[in-house]
Amino acid sequence: MFREKLAQDAARIQNQFDLVLGALDDLDVTQAMAYATRGGKRLRGFLVLESARLHGVEPAQVIWPATGIEALHAYSLVHDDLPCMDDDDLRRGRPTVHIKWDEGTAVLAGDALQALAFELCTRPEVGSTKIRAELALTLAKASGAQGMVLGQALDIAAETAAAPLTLEEITQLQAGKTGALIEWSACAGARLAQANPEPLRRYAQALGLAFQIADDILDVEGDAEKAGKRLQKDANAGKATFVSLLGLAAAKTRAAELVDQACATLDGYGPAAETLKQAARFVIARDS
Ligand code: IPE
Ligand code: IPE
Ligand code: MG
Ligand code: MG
Ligand code: MG
Repeated sequence: MFREKLAQDAARIQNQFDLVLGALDDLDVTQAMAYATRGGKRLRGFLVLESARLHGVEPAQVIWPATGIEALHAYSLVHDDLPCMDDDDLRRGRPTVHIKWDEGTAVLAGDALQALAFELCTRPEVGSTKIRAELALTLAKASGAQGMVLGQALDIAAETAAAPLTLEEITQLQAGKTGALIEWSACAGARLAQANPEPLRRYAQALGLAFQIADDILDVEGDAEKAGKRLQKDANAGKATFVSLLGLAAAKTRAAELVDQACATLDGYGPAAETLKQAARFVIARDS
């Protein structure tokens, strides 16, 4: 079953975090890093591991970038929850880092997790110098002002925009905010094998958008207990989402179409891509 596979990979990533973070000095900032990386679905790390399996990459190589992308994602969540961003006090069912410690510790834990992501992607165990450089270069693009940070900036700007965003603008916002890291994750297995990442890129572009639409739907009609975060926040904050633009029903239809599209891009891989197809169906069926 897909959820069991996801849980197994999540446990592998947690072991790796324990190893890496356990070796650091015991400070507030390192405790906050460990805290922020605990829990979550580990979907991005799973995509790295599964795309690598599809290409026959050794587990001992791929666990490093799989853990790295989860460090980068955790950093993005710690900063996303800050009072100057979404101002959230609950994440993964626990108080956010700036609530449990303070804002300074949350900013620094996020900074250090971002740096750690690049360290893990470029560890000697990962592969040749060329492969490691490619992973770092593409992760830099996916996470910065052309990727995740761009999406977060558009998200913040939209809160105070004079006119509602168009469908095209919301698609661009979400492709950056959530899509870029998901795309990097799904392409990572091909990059590790020095294979063509294009089919996986098309898969991930559709999947990433479906994933963020599902997140926006959860915000409206999810169960906060299961989601582990505060819900019904986007509308009050004036967030621009597919749900705010299209309404719930059309957003659900769009997400389901995107999942079909994501699955179709994998047909060339045959039965070996079945788990990635299951992952696509999971992203719109999840309750957390
Ligand atoms: C939440 O991401 C933030 C978004 C990009 C929508 P996830 O839903 O993957 O969060 P975790 O890692 O499972 O907690
Ligand atoms: C967060 O998106 C995306 C990133 C952290 C890059 P949201 O603000 O919608 O995520 P949640 O709903 O707080 O998890
Ligand atoms: Mg946000
Ligand atoms: Mg948020
Ligand atoms: Mg959200």
